[in-house]
Amino acid sequence: MNKNGSAIDTKRRLLPGLKVAEGYTRHPFDLEFGVRTSGLVAGRHLATGHRHDRHNTAYYAIAPSVFQAMIVRWRSSHPAGPIDAYTFVDLGAGMGRAVLLASQLPFRRVVGVELNPTLARIARRNLALWRAAGRAAAPSHVLCGDAAAFRFPPGPCVAFLFNPFGAAVMRRLLQSMAARFAARAGELDILYVNNEQEAVLRRQPGLARLFAGQVKRSRDDAIADHRILANQPDGEYASANYEDCSLYRWIGVAAGTKRI
Ligand SMILES: C[S@@+](CC[C@H](N)C(=O)[O-])C[C@H]1O[C@@H](n2cnc3c(N)ncnc32)[C@H](O)[C@@H]1O
Repeated sequence: MNKNGSAIDTKRRLLPGLKVAEGYTRHPFDLEFGVRTSGLVAGRHLATGHRHDRHNTAYYAIAPSVFQAMIVRWRSSHPAGPIDAYTFVDLGAGMGRAVLLASQLPFRRVVGVELNPTLARIARRNLALWRAAGRAAAPSHVLCGDAAAFRFPPGPCVAFLFNPFGAAVMRRLLQSMAARFAARAGELDILYVNNEQEAVLRRQPGLARLFAGQVKRSRDDAIADHRILANQPDGEYASANYEDCSLYRWIGVAAGTKRI
């Protein structure tokens, strides 16, 4: 009881946008696998006190069909080694849908990095459920922190970005990648979905663009995403049947910027 005699509310508050009254609708992915990755939370509701909060776009989970299509494209791009040599890193992991999907593949390791602690906590719970159901093939975990400060491990890495932040953070992330992979040409690939900051990547020396184009959602994902976005409280995000995507390889500054 508090001093007014009422029961103390120990329930955690939902982030804005995650209540049914605010248009929250579950994606078939969640219904099928018993996890919680649906919903749309505007970037302004995800503040943590970090200086990069104001560059946060929003929380929204990747369409599984777009994720799969980008992985197929990446695997046919002649990566530096077999998939089990690669660490997959989702920069801006949200509730972890891309981490869950990646963990089904035989990556060496899968890491999610999420700035917002509530989302990171949900992602960890999803991952625990996923593991308990025997769906995770790769060792996987979720860190709470800033993507631009992430220290990439040794060995080849795939960085996955589903439009997590604006240009300022993207520039800092690319600077950090360039330093970390300076002597590791070919060891970093970037999969960028809903590539709003494409111009920033195009200006980064040392990156070769291997693909840029529209990747279609499956019919089921298109219907589900359309329904979720049609119900959003403030109507500020648009939905299309495809995502603009790109795929980059770090070829090193000595090789210069190669436009393909
Ligand atoms: C569009 S969601 C993508 C979620 C997930 N990657 C997926 O594909 O399902 C982008 C996420 O990036 C997170 N984010 C934004 N800025 C970040 C930063 N500087 N560091 C880490 N995460 C960040 C947001 O909180 C949000 O959860």
